[in-house]
Amino acid sequence: MRDIKIAPSILASDFSKLGEEVRAVTEAGADWIHLDVMDGHFVPNISYGPDVIAALRAHTDIPFDCHLMIAPADPYLEAFAKAGCDTITVHAEAGPHLHRSLQAIRALGKKAGVTLNPATPVSAIEHVIDMVDLVLVMSVNPGFGGQKFIDAVVPKIAAIDALIGDRPIDLEVDGGVTADTAPACAKAGANAFVAGSAVFKGGTVDAYRANIEAIRAA
Ligand code: DX5
Ligand code: ZN
Repeated sequence: MRDIKIAPSILASDFSKLGEEVRAVTEAGADWIHLDVMDGHFVPNISYGPDVIAALRAHTDIPFDCHLMIAPADPYLEAFAKAGCDTITVHAEAGPHLHRSLQAIRALGKKAGVTLNPATPVSAIEHVIDMVDLVLVMSVNPGFGGQKFIDAVVPKIAAIDALIGDRPIDLEVDGGVTADTAPACAKAGANAFVAGSAVFKGGTVDAYRANIEAIRAA
């Protein structure tokens, strides 16, 4: 079984003190920091870009798990690599040349991830599965934190787990993940869990630690 990873999404943190929030979830036991980049074009919201990520890099040593909700992604991959992202994940729906995007991420020396919107079938990644280090399954429509988990993605997680087989690929789920929704995902094969609102409630390191542990224990 792949290692369980909890990846707090700082989209749900207090943007007025991002560095402090990154340090707080690190101290609280986060495995990765999940960075949601939105362009107001591929998704109907705008978040932050590579300069903000670069500024956060000094605040923690844990891996940066960067989720690009931008189209096109290719012109910006180098900037996100230079900003200190360890894994760069692109949407299968973001452009016609997914294979090229994944090649480019690995050529930059980074781990390559691919993600699927709730309506996108598993077949979209069948022919690139050997080019990725991570598959991210969206369990909400991307663009906003705090949405309700879409139960219909659970069988999709299981189908992707079967496609991955024994390859060393992380299977991550993102959107509406809580201690209540995580168990079905884990049972279907997910090992990495993005959580925004479920982690960043309470506003203190102790609260974040309890929130992270609740998801991990579930
Ligand atoms: C949605 C983002 C998610 C989101 C998760 O577009 O990709 O990472 O921030 O937030 P919660 O856990 O609140 O659904
Ligand atoms: Zn995300």
